Amino acid sequence: MKNARIVAVVAALMAAAGFSGGAAAEDYPTRPISMVVPFAAGGPTDTVARLVAESMSRDLGQQILVENVGGAGGTLGASRVAKSDPDGYTLLLHHIGMATSAVLYRKLPYDTLNAFEYVGLVTEVPMTIVARSDFEPADLKGLIDYVKTNKDKVTLANAGVGAASHLCGMLFMSKIGEQLTTVPYKGTGPAMTDLVGKQVDFMCDQTTNTTNQIKGGKIKVYATTTKDRVASLPDVPTAAEAGLQDFEVGIWHGVYAPKGTPPEITAKLSAALQKALKDPLVVKRFADLGTAPSTEAEATPEGLKTKLTSEIERWRPVITAAGVYAD
Ligand code: MLT
Repeated sequence: MKNARIVAVVAALMAAAGFSGGAAAEDYPTRPISMVVPFAAGGPTDTVARLVAESMSRDLGQQILVENVGGAGGTLGASRVAKSDPDGYTLLLHHIGMATSAVLYRKLPYDTLNAFEYVGLVTEVPMTIVARSDFEPADLKGLIDYVKTNKDKVTLANAGVGAASHLCGMLFMSKIGEQLTTVPYKGTGPAMTDLVGKQVDFMCDQTTNTTNQIKGGKIKVYATTTKDRVASLPDVPTAAEAGLQDFEVGIWHGVYAPKGTPPEITAKLSAALQKALKDPLVVKRFADLGTAPSTEAEATPEGLKTKLTSEIERWRPVITAAGVYAD
């Protein structure tokens, strides 16, 4: 936190003296860029990041290398980027957890609304309620009944407090009025390995991580957390169709840079992000995995800033009502 503030003050003084890094920004990027994913490799955030990074690299002419920094529901990776040099060579790709962690954690190692610059929104991914393939319940109503009856032995996987899987699991437990045993992982990539291996019973995870396992028959799916059915999973009912009303949650993702990163650099990154989101390969891979790119207007610094600030206020009363906190 102190380092980040010193950096911000120095950057402001440099900007005031006209040293806004213009030369550096003009030539940027001149070396590979690190894109931190605050969850383990092989999960949904990693999948989105690698697709977008590969396309942005082509436009920027420098490699964007994805670096997985898992732990503490995504807050360790976010903290790493908050403390990095604001030179455009360290980015963060994070999701709704950026907003929920601001409410869930009593003391975060960074100031969510003052430690980052914004590049833009990337995509909003649906979630699915999934289970090990031999889990007894046949449908969502059966799952809810089974979980209520067996609440002391059923295990619910997530990626730690602040993860999307944690948020969805918390909402599910609030809806059914039960507190279950949760099994935390550094990402739903490793959680999925255990779900396929029948080491854990069920979880709520993003279609970017569950679609292929569902289609391959490796896991059972009960519902999506969307208003309408997901085109790539046409036979999967929405939670409402399956009997669980008002259970909609979309996992939006954004790209951030450390506070003090010159606006000319974040603008160049946003332009590359917008191009990547129109890349036919990215659009197709997103569609195959149940999601779609954010719009051009959303993939801007203002679009992400608006989303983050509104989502913190949206989830504050929900999390407070659920009485869930982390220190
Ligand atoms: C991941 O990438 O592992 C997931 O986003 C974790 C989560 O948020 O549930």
